[in-house]
Amino acid sequence: MPKKIIGFSKLSREEKIDWLSEKIFDDSNQVRSLLDNYLNSNKDIQAIHDSFSENSISNFYLPYSLSPNFLINNKNYTIPLVTEESSVVAALSNAAKFWFDKGGFKSKVESFTKRGQIHLSFNGDKEALKEFINNNREYILKSTDNITKNMKKRGGGISAINIIDKTNDLKNYFQLSIDFDTSDSMGANFINSCLEAMSKKIDELSKQYDFFIKSGYSINIIMSILSNYTPDCIVEAHAECDIKDLIDIEGIESKEFAKKMKYAFDIAKVDINRAVTHNKGIMNGIDAILIATGNDFRAAEAGIHSYASLNSKYESLSECTILDNKFRISIKIPLSVGTVGGITDLHPLVKLSLQILGSPSSKDLMSIIACVGLAQNFAAVRSLITSGIQKGHMKMHLINLLIKNNANEDQIKRAKKYFVDKEINNSSVSEFIESNK
Ligand code: MEV
Repeated sequence: MPKKIIGFSKLSREEKIDWLSEKIFDDSNQVRSLLDNYLNSNKDIQAIHDSFSENSISNFYLPYSLSPNFLINNKNYTIPLVTEESSVVAALSNAAKFWFDKGGFKSKVESFTKRGQIHLSFNGDKEALKEFINNNREYILKSTDNITKNMKKRGGGISAINIIDKTNDLKNYFQLSIDFDTSDSMGANFINSCLEAMSKKIDELSKQYDFFIKSGYSINIIMSILSNYTPDCIVEAHAECDIKDLIDIEGIESKEFAKKMKYAFDIAKVDINRAVTHNKGIMNGIDAILIATGNDFRAAEAGIHSYASLNSKYESLSECTILDNKFRISIKIPLSVGTVGGITDLHPLVKLSLQILGSPSSKDLMSIIACVGLAQNFAAVRSLITSGIQKGHMKMHLINLLIKNNANEDQIKRAKKYFVDKEINNSSVSEFIESNK
């Protein structure tokens, strides 16, 4: 029977590492020194990072990169990105540069409502539940006063409460669907705190509600939680140019390029295998800026991918159209992000990212993110229909392989020249290192 450890979270960092070394590694000194090397030498900064998660024993680095020349709604942005995928930033920067001279990207937030749900079972009918909520609406809302006070000052708060009868799907299942405006915060904590306060009040009031007592009706609160499906928090972005301006793209004639690009986008509309990969390319950019700005990329991923199935079939999130000699790419996605709250006020590099972006509002950030997703998508599909993805990918991967093979600075310099027209893989790189010692 495997042994389980009790009280792991209560152990000190040293004790946790001892436990790890004993359990998994022969050489505890090596493990300890690796973990120590990734600690921040500034104790205050390290303390901030330790506070983000339980059982933290070190930091886990990813590259922090910049992509300049992003013209969005006529404003020139430099985009901070966190990603481990080598070609993402290079491809994105190329796309930003390409569109800069053609007017850049335009973007608009179309809607801004976030939703939370109180899931409950009720053994009466919808009308009785509706009447109970209407009769007590004021008290239910009042239970959130302490939580909503500051949010109201910032223009946010609760905007609607709706009762939804789900009894056709599940016996006795009803939902209170509550709409929120969370201003510049992503609002997960705010929404969940409001929902829990409301649930408590509903439970309390329903137990004293005469009509329910007489009729033998009762409400059983099952759970209260925000929804990461945010189809009413939508941002649109697009870029457009004359077809004749699509020049210098891997030697392909502009009309031919436009037609091939549109065909590739159309394939992603009709084929799920391609749609998922096409959307993954979009998320390469979106996740990287979400992480750099301290936003919850898991929430965005869940919401965006579910939105891709809005038409009851998983589809691509972006489109390419050709009309009146204009080439246009566009995207529409749900996005719930924040520029205050969460780790945005704590993580030093997140704060820096927001400064680099000019301290955007959450709506501005939605626009920036949508444009980054679209640019990344354009870059990926452009490569796919021209030189193929591996050329750029392997150029970047070459550095990884050189480091893996312990190349020195001089060997790296020479390898970059040598591999311009050669096959890049682990054995070709290690052979190069061997013969260039
Ligand atoms: C790779 O990370 C992303 C791509 O596969 C996206 C796409 O196929 O559109 C290149």
